[in-house]
Amino acid sequence: MPAALAVKSLVKRYGRNVLALNGVSFEVDKGDFFVIIGPSGCGKSTLLRCVAGILNYDGGEIYIDGRNVSNVPAHKRNISYMPETYALFPHMRIYDNVAFRLRMQNFDESEIKKEVKRALELVGLAGFEERWPSELSGGQRQRVALARAVVANPSLLLLDEPLSHVDYRLQRKLMEDFKNIHKNLGNTWVLTTHIQEQGLSLADTLMVMNVGVIEQKGKPNEIYESPRTVFAARFVGDINLYSGQVVEQKGELCTVKTNMGEFKGIYKGTGEIIGKTVAYGIRPNHILISSVEERRENSFRARLVSAYYFGEFIEYIFERPDGVQVKVHADPMPVKLGEEYAVSWDTIRGIILDKPSVIEGLNIEDVIYGR
Ligand SMILES: Nc1ncnc2c1ncn2[C@@H]1O[C@H](COP(=O)(O)OP(=O)(O)OP(=O)(O)O)[C@@H](O)[C@H]1O
Ligand SMILES: [Mg+2]
Repeated sequence: MPAALAVKSLVKRYGRNVLALNGVSFEVDKGDFFVIIGPSGCGKSTLLRCVAGILNYDGGEIYIDGRNVSNVPAHKRNISYMPETYALFPHMRIYDNVAFRLRMQNFDESEIKKEVKRALELVGLAGFEERWPSELSGGQRQRVALARAVVANPSLLLLDEPLSHVDYRLQRKLMEDFKNIHKNLGNTWVLTTHIQEQGLSLADTLMVMNVGVIEQKGKPNEIYESPRTVFAARFVGDINLYSGQVVEQKGELCTVKTNMGEFKGIYKGTGEIIGKTVAYGIRPNHILISSVEERRENSFRARLVSAYYFGEFIEYIFERPDGVQVKVHADPMPVKLGEEYAVSWDTIRGIILDKPSVIEGLNIEDVIYGR
């Protein structure tokens, strides 16, 4: 079975100076909920617009269901695209908004009626046909936009940041709705976001983008637990990062010598890294705090210098006498500001990375310390 979408060596320039896509290649399986995550300006919208057929590109190929669509116009690609700044037509009732694309494609009215009804039911807005967009809440408008996109059941749905214009609670609700609608339709969705929580929880497959390139593609938990680059590690969650040299390597198990001592961790890459300068990372929720010395491989003592309340966890900042800080996310603990504690973590939680990014020529220490 061919991939629902295959993008091969896609290159897109804007003018002379902006290389928005620098040879991007990836595949999306049929039925997948595929999420592209990356910082502002990395090329997410550019990529979707190329796939949608509304933007010309400078190199590479795009295949939809195994068919090279390089010369196929947008409306013949059997896809539906919801742009980042989608807008409902304010002068059209909800029914006509949803029917719009079908009318453009010359469906007959009885077919349109059936399809609009189905799409509105799917997004939980049956009975809203006669309303005007101005008579809906933000979340309802978002769902009408989705109904407009899923009408006529396209095989591939491209949604550009569909959840960034609504409040947090509504985002959570819509995320759940999206997952259910996707399951009911059984087609392929490609959605972009720059919010890590959305990426991790929505995606069957997650793809992390950096400026014009793909940093990593995989299951959300794979990228979170075994990132391949410092950039990917940071983009899917908070992480403490320190530089050091690898002094021992036994399979995946490595020892890294840092300014704070030697720590053991896991290296998932291939090849010999002894002697190399690497990043040693620990996620803040994987660190344990104790008032007595822990007998673990990885530990040091540090003083609690601040604590921030985040509701679901508390962020504790500890500082060593040499000024190095470590961030810990935990439930409220009986700890006191200014007191010293033992900070420790399991070797399996130590993430060792030898690449700052897939972009060549970056210095790993500069990237770790944000220089
Ligand atoms: N029409 C254009 N002309 C020139 N440069 C453009 C144009 N559109 C986008 N760019 C540039 O191309 C790069 C990628 O932009 P793009 O909109 O694809 O990013 P994005 O990942 O969607 O960002 P965001 O998260 O902010 O939506 C950026 O550097 C942007 O400034
Ligand atoms: Mg964008």
